[in-house]
Amino acid sequence: NLAIDFKNGKNIPDLKGKILTAIFSNPSLRTRLSFESGMKKLNGDVNILNSSDSWEFEYEDAVIMNGSKQEHIKEVAKVISRYTDLIALRKSDLMTKSSFATVSDSWEQLKKDEGINQLAKYADRPVINMESNMFHPCQATSDMMTIQEKLGIFKNKKYVLTWAPHPKALPLATPHSQMLLPAIMGMDVTVACPEGFELDSDVIDLAKSRGGKVVYQHDQKKAFQDADVVVAKSWASLKYFGKWEEESEYRKKFMNWTVDSQKMSLTNNAFFMHCLPVRRNVVVTDEVLDSKNSIVIDEAENRMWAQMAIITKLLEQN
Ligand code: CP
Repeated sequence: NLAIDFKNGKNIPDLKGKILTAIFSNPSLRTRLSFESGMKKLNGDVNILNSSDSWEFEYEDAVIMNGSKQEHIKEVAKVISRYTDLIALRKSDLMTKSSFATVSDSWEQLKKDEGINQLAKYADRPVINMESNMFHPCQATSDMMTIQEKLGIFKNKKYVLTWAPHPKALPLATPHSQMLLPAIMGMDVTVACPEGFELDSDVIDLAKSRGGKVVYQHDQKKAFQDADVVVAKSWASLKYFGKWEEESEYRKKFMNWTVDSQKMSLTNNAFFMHCLPVRRNVVVTDEVLDSKNSIVIDEAENRMWAQMAIITKLLEQN
């Protein structure tokens, strides 16, 4: 609601003198620019630190630092806390720049989200997750703002998060948050995916423990029936996590999961959403992405307003 107020030009606070430091271990367009623009609209300032321009951070406690990592997150967090009022981190360890995904740790290790949790533990300022291994909360918050703008209500609205094809195995943070938040906010959530692409069961359990209604549907067309919102996203198969050649071969079997007009015609005239970046005619057809029901650009814009609200609330509490 506060984000929608801001978008309507109401109640925007003056954060002159306040500084956000945003640390990026991974590429970004929307997250980086929406935080920068949002902080400027609040009259505050932003420091951007690309981790490739800095020392390599050690996140684990009680290790002998005689390898490649030069600086511990304990000092990093405390030093940045002296320069700044808020700290934000993007750290996703599933690297997808090469043709295959690469990651040295198991999913059980990655899902501990050591990076963001260690930063939060040692920082003396509020910490914002700009995408970790498990969650992308700013994306989901912006998505909910967008749905509120378009539908007005959440309760009893059918929300379909559909897996989609992609040439690479992508992280699970965004779909986790895109399942969790609408479920907590009272939408009827269907996760449509091929077998083997189920989300982490702990996140499903978390949604249910907060009263969320979440079901799986492995038949994409059945899932789309009567949907009010369709959110497309690709993600890696946890069943084949780490066995990337097998994962790639398995994923190729589901190239027919592209969202197209015929599938959208099964819905209740649903809005189409995607967090972007999106691969046209792989994840979704041009026809759907360019249709009047596609709200992906509003969704991207709302990253800025929603994050302005998050920043404002965190500074009020601190
Ligand atoms: N949706 C999203 O987080 O976009 P970026 O990766 O470009 O920041």
